[in-house]
Formats: sequence, C-alpha cells, structure tokens
Amino acid sequence: MTFETLNEICRDVPGASVVEGQGGLPVIALQTDASQAQVYPHGAHVTHFQPVTQREPVLWLSRKSWFEDGKPIRGGVPVCWPWFGPHSSAPDLPSHGIARTREWQVESLELLDDESLRVTFLLKSDEQTRQVWPYSFELRHEITVGATLEMTLRTRNPGKSQLSLCEALHSYFRVGDVQRVRIEGLENTTYIDKIAAAAGRKQQGDEPVTFEGEVDRPYLDTESACTLVDPQLGRRIIVRKRNSRSTVVWNPHIEKSARMEDYADDEWPTMVCIETANVHDNAVTIDPGQTHEMTAVISVADME
Ligand code: BG6
Repeated sequence: MTFETLNEICRDVPGASVVEGQGGLPVIALQTDASQAQVYPHGAHVTHFQPVTQREPVLWLSRKSWFEDGKPIRGGVPVCWPWFGPHSSAPDLPSHGIARTREWQVESLELLDDESLRVTFLLKSDEQTRQVWPYSFELRHEITVGATLEMTLRTRNPGKSQLSLCEALHSYFRVGDVQRVRIEGLENTTYIDKIAAAAGRKQQGDEPVTFEGEVDRPYLDTESACTLVDPQLGRRIIVRKRNSRSTVVWNPHIEKSARMEDYADDEWPTMVCIETANVHDNAVTIDPGQTHEMTAVISVADME
C-alpha cells in the first residue's frame, strides 16, 4: 500500500498517522491516552508497544534487523504462518512461513475509545502464495492497542479442502538481563527441546523457566497465561491467550546470535521470546468455510 493510501486511511482517525519507518517502509504510528505503538504493513508486524505507565518499550527490536521487501523484521511480533520454523518437507522455503515477509492490506482502522485504536490487516492467497502453499486462505490480523496489546490472528478457509497449519505470534520482549528473568506459567508441562545437543521431549518441573544458555522450546498443551518476571526492569509482562495450545520460549544465547546476520552479537541478554502458538502436536485444522482464531493479550505491571 502506498503512503498516499495509508495517509487516506489514517486521516480521519485521531491518534493514527503514517510515517516513514526503517528502510523507507511505511509504518502506522498509533497513539492513545493509554499507550503508543508502531505497526508495519510489511508482515502486519507490531514493532513497538509502550503503555504510558512504562519507562521502557515492552517489545524488543534488533538494531540489525532487515527492513526490506521479502525479508522478516527481527523483533516485535512476527506472524509465523502457515508453518513454524523450517518447512517440514521443503527446507528451501522461508522459515516460519509466508506471512511475515509479505505486505498486508489495511482492511480497517478505528478508534474504539480514547484509550484504544484497532487496525485490521488482511492477506489473501494469490498466485505467489499458491506456489509455496497450494491453498486458498483469508488471513486477518487484528491489532488493538490500548492499555494492553491485543492481537488476534484469524484464518478463514474459503477453499474446498481442509487446511492444516501451524501459527505463532512470535513476541520478542525487552528485558533487563535474560539471565535474571524467569517465566512462570509453564510448570509441569511437556516441551520439545530443539537444542541439537539435548534434543527430545522433556518435562518442565515445578520451577519457572530460566535462561542459563540457549533455550529453544515449544511447550505443548499449554493454554494458561505466562508471566515474565524481570527484576532488573522492575516489571512483569503477562501474556494471556485464547485458542493457543502451545507456547514457544526462545533465547539464542551467544553462538546462535553470532550465526544470525540480522541480530547483533551483544543483543541476546536483552530479549526473550514468549510465543503464543499452535505448533507440532497442536497444529490446527480448519474445515472448508470455517474460521479459526488465536489471540494473545500482552499487559505490563510493576513489580511490588
Ligand atoms: C523460534 C524458533 O521461534 O524462532 C527458533 O523456535 C528460531 O528455532 C527462532 O531460531 C528464530 O527464527 P528465525 O527464522 O526468525 O531466525
């Protein structure tokens, strides 16, 4: 969508504007009485969210991120869809699917009240998407910015055959020091350890998740909220969700960071991902004519 079209959409909506973002890409800036946010039509990607009560942004964004057509943004909330990680049978296809590298259309933008704005993006199947994923789909990403950041990814199956897919709202959070944070809410659940040296299914004990090294774990059958406790920044980030049965926790630590072109070597201590997802055993199937939606709601509270 051109700057002109986006300007037109934002013109009558108080608190919404279009500015030139990184890499010259357009970005929609949203400002309400409760918070501010930025969302790129490229990937329907939220890159910034900060309630007025917070001194620091909630989301993390790499200073080495690409902001380019066809490449994903590193940080914020990438939309992983319709597969997660490498494609299961075609390793040359892009990691995490096709949604995060495509330009989405703004379907609607509305002021809900003084504290909240909602933007809805739409991505539909076309010739290009059918070349890599041979199905018809309508994907909507509804982003509501207020005291909380609420994101609903809605997949409609307009085709004649069943859809089977994985999805994640791959949320990157800014932390004071990953080695001092903990994640509560995943106790006594099963996860897949994706670290090569230790790969396999494992059981989380009674203790919260902590980060002594690289962590890359899809937790399965986990529908409850997670709390990221950050003593250094003095805050708790709470991730609530609906229709999401997996939670992926990721921090690349030293060696994996060094292998990633779009991630600075010294950034790993400042971020952690808690991804609202349906992956692996929790993949979703959608019958013809049906719609599935998955929601993440992110809020922040000061530590007592
Ligand atoms: C996580 C995966 O969700 O995303 C990791 O579990 C992966 O294995 C990470 O490394 C980042 O993926 P990408 O494609 O953005 O580099």
